[in-house]
Formats: sequence, structure tokens, C-alpha cells
Amino acid sequence: MSLLLAPSILSADFAHLADAVAAVERGGADLIHVDVMDGHFVPNLTIGPPVVKSLKRVATVPLDVHLMITDPDKYIGAFADAGASLLSVHVEVLPHLHRTVHAIKALGVKAGVVLNPSTPVVAIGEVAADVDFVLVMSVNPGFSGQTFIPRSESKVAEVRALLEAVGNNAAVEIDGGIDMLTVSRVVKAGARMLVAGNAIFGSADPERAARELKAAAMAALTA
Ligand code: DX5
Ligand code: ZN
Repeated sequence: MSLLLAPSILSADFAHLADAVAAVERGGADLIHVDVMDGHFVPNLTIGPPVVKSLKRVATVPLDVHLMITDPDKYIGAFADAGASLLSVHVEVLPHLHRTVHAIKALGVKAGVVLNPSTPVVAIGEVAADVDFVLVMSVNPGFSGQTFIPRSESKVAEVRALLEAVGNNAAVEIDGGIDMLTVSRVVKAGARMLVAGNAIFGSADPERAARELKAAAMAALTA
């Protein structure tokens, strides 16, 4: 699959996460995106390893765990044990990013690095050859339902070019404000892992919303 849809359960009803996962899997979800927030790196609190462990029992697709926390090194082992198949960490909090990326890989988990909207692409230049994917934030992290920052399109293209330059065919993931209006733009810019929270779980029919968003993304890919 050249394009992966990763619904973010941040916008789902936390009392019914198993239903939310099942609905988007029926709608074609390729990954389940799990947003972990610590109230320090971002101004919100969400979930930790126990919830990831429970999600792992019900999900049939891999869990894509996005760590928005100040000290990811302390927790990558716990999230790997809980069942994360992909783990992404923010460049902004990691002075030893190379070490962290390889520590994630050593756990048998795919390693991603994340760039906030204000973080330049050059920040990942020295690890570009090592990563399994790069996540470009197209909103300031912390909340779902925010407006897509248009500058993110050229940033996706810039990351794609960097990865090509170092011979890494790792995918570019995008997260924040992805909906039926923005999805084709980011796919055309080179994004191949698409996170969507509000556009899917804010809808009355998440299964259908996932299916339609993926279809729109696939159409942009072949256009
Ligand atoms: C934002 C999170 C996102 C969020 C996306 O901090 O990282 O994954 O759930 O939500 P939408 O798609 O509603 O912008
Ligand atoms: Zn996220």
C-alpha cells in the first residue's frame, strides 16, 4: 500500500475506543494513530501505555503512537511493550535524537521523528538516513480540530527531497487539519501517511468518513 490512512483516536469517544477502532478499520484505516500528551510539551493530557495495551488487543492494524511528551526516552520501552508498531518523537525535545531513533529501532519498532510547524527541516538532516518515517505537524500539537497551516505543504516536499537525497524511501506522515479539502494538497506534496482526527471521528459516520477520505487521497495520488 503506497498510501496509509491513520485515523487519530484523539477525536473519538474514549468510553468506546474499541468501537471507534473497529469502525475506521471497516472504513479502510491502515494504522491507528494514538496521541500521547503529557501536559508539559503540549498543553493537554491524554493517555499512556495502559490504554495503548488495551487498544492493541482490539486493533487489527498497527498502532502509530505519537509521543508529545518532554522526556520520550523514559517511555519508549513502555510504549513498545504496550504494543506500538510505530513510535514518533519530537525533535524539539531531543538533544540526542540519533540515539533515540536507534533505541526505538532496537526495540523492533519503526522510528519516526516529528517536526513542529516552527521547526525547520534542517533539524533532521543528520538523522534523515536513519528514520523509518518523518511526521510533519501541520498544526501546533495539542488538540484535534485545528486549522491546517498552509506552509506545511512545501515542508512535506522539502522533507521528501531530503529523504531522497540521502537515499531513504521512508514515508512522510502529516498530522493536523487533514480533511476532504486539504488531503489532496498534502498527497500531491508527497505525504503518504495521513493522520486525521476530527475529519473522521467528528463525523456522524466515522467508517464512511474514513472511506471517503482515503478515496480522496488515492484519487490525488493517481491524478
Ligand atoms: C494534534 C495531534 C493530532 C490530532 C489531529 O496534536 O497530534 O494527531 O489528533 O487532529 P485533527 O485531524 O482533528 O487536526
Ligand atoms: Zn498526532
